[in-house]
Amino acid sequence: MDKFLITGGRPLKGAVAISGAKNSALPCMAAALLTAETVILHNLPYARDIITQRRLLEDLGATVLTPELRTHKINASHIEVFEAPYELVKTMRASVLALGPLLARFGKAKVSLPGGCAIGTRPIDLHLRGFEQLGAEVRLEGGNVVARAPQGGRLIGATISFEKVTVTGTENLLMAATLAKGRTVLRNAACEPEISDLCELLNRMGARVRGAGTPTIEIDGVEALGGAQHTIIPDRIETGTFIVAAAITGGELEIKDCQPEHLTAVIAKLREVVVVIEDLNPSTLRVKRGNALLASDVSTEPHPNFPTDMQAQYMALMTQAEGHATITETIFENRFMHASEMQRMGAQIHLNGRIATVSGPTKLTGAPVLASDLRASASLVLAGLVAQGETMIERVYHIDRGYERIEAKLRAVGADIQRIRESVTAQLTDAAGTDAAAIASLSGTS
Ligand code: EPZ
Repeated sequence: MDKFLITGGRPLKGAVAISGAKNSALPCMAAALLTAETVILHNLPYARDIITQRRLLEDLGATVLTPELRTHKINASHIEVFEAPYELVKTMRASVLALGPLLARFGKAKVSLPGGCAIGTRPIDLHLRGFEQLGAEVRLEGGNVVARAPQGGRLIGATISFEKVTVTGTENLLMAATLAKGRTVLRNAACEPEISDLCELLNRMGARVRGAGTPTIEIDGVEALGGAQHTIIPDRIETGTFIVAAAITGGELEIKDCQPEHLTAVIAKLREVVVVIEDLNPSTLRVKRGNALLASDVSTEPHPNFPTDMQAQYMALMTQAEGHATITETIFENRFMHASEMQRMGAQIHLNGRIATVSGPTKLTGAPVLASDLRASASLVLAGLVAQGETMIERVYHIDRGYERIEAKLRAVGADIQRIRESVTAQLTDAAGTDAAAIASLSGTS
């Protein structure tokens, strides 16, 4: 369990390149299960969730070649297993994205029901109800979702109205609908850029999807899909995180290989709180802090509004802004775990259910803090960059799930951040509670 040690107080300066979007890469990798031909994906982020998804595909029987680090050649012509086991799903909920493709192509799938996670209960009832509307028989058995297509093996197109906007729910159902008989219409669908990116890949594979990026998506099912090549979009949340990093440290960054039109609500809000954000060209932003940061309220909403995945980073920024900012989290019921850790650093944050009120500016001081989930850990890194003294962040495996080598990218623009790798001996010591020397002698190292 690695840690980050950050010494704050240095304005970031220089250029940083944005990696591919984790939340597009995961469904695009799952989409390869829809065809026996090869799907080639470029610009995949080198992040732990991508490695987990690759492992899932290989466990199902797909081959995944990596001609280079960020390119995967996925071939699912010999799928022998139709199950995403608990061991994998518990480490990454997005494993449920195998359900739609397996059910649509093979008429059967078994996926462990993901439990709750740090940010909320996160049920998948809307996914399952959608599959039933496509004619599947869905039942829960021993903690698993067991789904079967109707007799004859193919799902049947239908009109599905989501009672709540769900990103992976939309992705799962639209992938399943690509091979269903007839037309499927998804209403109140999610409009995130990652959905449009997935639809672009599916249409390259021969699917007939229209309306991606709007609340109504239409899919005319086809008999079979083919191979394709696709480049994953840049990560808009990583982009937003680095914009905040420049602003919170009072530095100046050039953010390259990004796609600003995917985070217009974030950029608009940050400009409102006096962050200077210039478009140098269609894929490069220059960011610096204006005068004093001004506090401003925000409420998280589905795309194209302010994303919940930027809420924690925004909270860190608001600790340095003049005034009181009210942050309302409308998507997940328990996504303020980072607030109590920032309070340990001296932040003035009042919590009341799904509403946090941040008062500032406050001088943060370094402290040992605990990361609880992916975006919370990013916010603690940001708080550590502006705090006086040293901040030690534990459980940074959370951040590795979705950010590619964030400490190297930050160090390259002047941050004082180190990854503290916990040595095997220390882990054994912790685990066994005996002294290091004895264990060292056991493992033959003195
Ligand atoms: C996706 O999660 C993202 N993950 C999340 O990013 C992101 O926070 C979330 O969308 C919202 O933008 C991936 O794309 C892999 P939802 P997802 O289904 O699809 C409720 C990150 O940091 N709901 O849109 O799981 C649910 O509980 C991660 O990268 C149901 O009630 O989120 C939540 O309150 C964290 N029943 C709301 O809807 C369902 O069947 C939105 O969830 C499905 C969802």
